Amino acid sequence: MPETRRPLIAGNWKMNGLADESLLQIKDLAARASKISAPACDVLICPPATLLRDLAKAAVGSPVTVGGQDCHANGKGAHTGDISVAMLKDSGAHYCIVGHSERRADHGETNEDVKSKAEAVLREGLIAIVCVGETLAEREAGTTLSVISDQVKNSLPLGATAVNTVIAYEPVWAIGTGKTPTVLDVQTVHAHIRSDLTGLMNDANRVRILYGGSVKGSNAAELMAVENVDGALVGGASLTAEDFWPIVNVCI
Ligand code: PGA
Repeated sequence: MPETRRPLIAGNWKMNGLADESLLQIKDLAARASKISAPACDVLICPPATLLRDLAKAAVGSPVTVGGQDCHANGKGAHTGDISVAMLKDSGAHYCIVGHSERRADHGETNEDVKSKAEAVLREGLIAIVCVGETLAEREAGTTLSVISDQVKNSLPLGATAVNTVIAYEPVWAIGTGKTPTVLDVQTVHAHIRSDLTGLMNDANRVRILYGGSVKGSNAAELMAVENVDGALVGGASLTAEDFWPIVNVCI
């Protein structure tokens, strides 16, 4: 991995976590990371919004930062139940995930929606983690690369740079299933994304492209060693420090 791409190991807690247990977990993670004298990667936890402020405070002074899992494209207003990037930032978030496949599937989010959300993230000075990934049906139909190209091209925020935008490739069929693509498949898709980005932005070679989908301690080293894989977006295995640390430890 070129020195200019500092890996990012990000945990996405999804709709999991109550205050007491979550604080114990982030403190445990922060303590482990703090023992590393010069961390070689960024470490992020994206908890439910209800926990952001407490977790951000608990991680202060450690290499661990926190981020949001989703946001509204608007800055404020009559959007019951939604959360703005300014609110996430106010609670201590440095990043925000947009376009996770669960948002695309459960809430019908289109590439256009994802792009608007990512632009809202950039407007507040946070880093957008833009998720892309094919479904099993798309993979079986042989359309993986064209689906990914379409998502990258149409979800990428205007003004995207390697500093403010991260791409996460997450095959939908690999999320939470224990299944992962072969190393060759991951390499092919990541190289394809890199080449797509090259046509869309000036510093494409410095953009971090994460792999996500059933990453765990036992497969992290193999996946992180793949060319153009610059970190991981981890769901289930990020919920406890004990499970997440072996993944972080591959890069830190
Ligand atoms: P998983 O989820 O690690 O539980 O497969 C990954 C994700 O959805 O980000």
